[in-house]
Amino acid sequence: RKRVVAFISGGGSNMLALAKAAAAPDFPAEIVAVFSDKADAGGLAKAEALGIPTRSFLRKDFASKDAHEAEILAALADYRPDLLCLAGYMRLLSADFIRPYEGRILNIHPSLLPLFPGLHTHQRAINAGMRVSGCTVHLVNAGMDEGPILAQAVVPILDGDTADSLAARVLVQEHALYRRVLAGFAAGTLPGGTDPAQSVLSLG
Ligand code: GAR
Repeated sequence: RKRVVAFISGGGSNMLALAKAAAAPDFPAEIVAVFSDKADAGGLAKAEALGIPTRSFLRKDFASKDAHEAEILAALADYRPDLLCLAGYMRLLSADFIRPYEGRILNIHPSLLPLFPGLHTHQRAINAGMRVSGCTVHLVNAGMDEGPILAQAVVPILDGDTADSLAARVLVQEHALYRRVLAGFAAGTLPGGTDPAQSVLSLG
């Protein structure tokens, strides 16, 4: 089983979806630790309830971004991860941080990238008059929500949707998409591989 460290900044519902899937013995990955950049991230308690070790690294405790990332990299070595899964981790990783895990860092973003990277994705999709939105799992590079797309799920935007109602509908698909992609990536059987035509997994 591939060893995964999940990175969170908030409620950790995506991390929890991965951890619950990984609790099945035939799932090809296990969550060996959860790292956070927020001491009060709600996901930390959820991970601990499942017996998963957690570590917090607060940016304010370090003099620079480099020092913060160096500490996280050093701590990662304790867990010997094969893969890193960003799950609502709201920090940009530097090229130096990514290098030792190049091609082995996954992220989920709540839009159909490359549309609407960054923050306030759902409001921006609504404001743009989109009739669909969705979510994307991609490999992480040093750009903001960039890197090769592994899979996407499409979600309708309904009349009267607010950012919150759309976010809730997309989040359900995020959980399903992320666990499917992690399973496929860890097993080396990702449906469609890098062929985008086969990467739309669900129309929710
Ligand atoms: C999720 O919607 C995730 O896609 C998003 O933050 C939320 C975290 O929720 N991530 C980003 O916007 C990254 N650019 P969670 O903590 O409940 O998984």
